Amino acid sequence: MLGRNSDLVSIKDVGTDEIESLFRKAQAFEENAEKSCRERILATLFFEASTRTRLSFESAMKRLGGEVISVSGIEGTSVMKGETFEDTIRMVENYCDAIVLRHPMNEAAALAASIANVPVINAGDGTNEHPTQTLLDLYTIQKEFRSIDGLKIAMIGDLKYGRTVHSLSLGLNNYDVSMRFISHPSLRVPDEIKREIKNKFEETEKMKLSDCDVIYMTRIQKERFPEQRAFEAVKGLYKISKETLRSLKEDSIILHPLPRVEEIEQGVDADKRAHYFQQARNGVFVRMAILDTFLNG
Ligand code: CP
Repeated sequence: MLGRNSDLVSIKDVGTDEIESLFRKAQAFEENAEKSCRERILATLFFEASTRTRLSFESAMKRLGGEVISVSGIEGTSVMKGETFEDTIRMVENYCDAIVLRHPMNEAAALAASIANVPVINAGDGTNEHPTQTLLDLYTIQKEFRSIDGLKIAMIGDLKYGRTVHSLSLGLNNYDVSMRFISHPSLRVPDEIKREIKNKFEETEKMKLSDCDVIYMTRIQKERFPEQRAFEAVKGLYKISKETLRSLKEDSIILHPLPRVEEIEQGVDADKRAHYFQQARNGVFVRMAILDTFLNG
């Protein structure tokens, strides 16, 4: 159950009713930012690079009237002196009311949540999950289509290392959808995620999008590949170009968790179906709803 003093480690922690409740709150915050987190302090601990997640959480906290303390990268922290992850979390919890954590280690958020007495929110743990991204993805889809049920959703690109795809596939268990996973065979959704998917899905290398309502494009996660050679073999295989747009449904939407590199051409941005910048903006309101829920119940 989400609420005061709980944690958000996996999207599996969030039920359908809780998602709907967060969306109602996010919608209300879009219209009017209540200062519900005055005199509260959020710690954003980002041990991996980020633009959107860190800044949108910080913006969300400030819009709610709260304060933020922040770490971006390990430079300048006592991790450089050899302090353990566990001790870092034990220290930081003394200085704040909630922790938003990004870390390269899978399960770092689960470990932090088992140590800290303040809420821990997973902002991306290695190749594992990115649950708050999924909440803003679902919010964006729901705003566009009113109902998520019945949609056909394509996910394309790096489905192996892309944690946003893992969380989104599992978050969609709260709805009745069908999914098409489009990737090189070496970058398929991991079996442990597939085993937990409740919706119908197909896997293919072909970029067939003409029957899809949501096209969820992802970046090939260069930094996760054990060898540069393996990355070079799959780099640039899938692209959305102006040419691709001709094959898409008129009322489909293109999403991307961002950052993009080369998988969506800039010429696509002006198309009405390109929703990825609006998607990133929605992140602020969804994260306001998350923070309000964790800090106020
Ligand atoms: N979508 C996302 O996680 O972006 P950042 O890495 O910039 O936070």
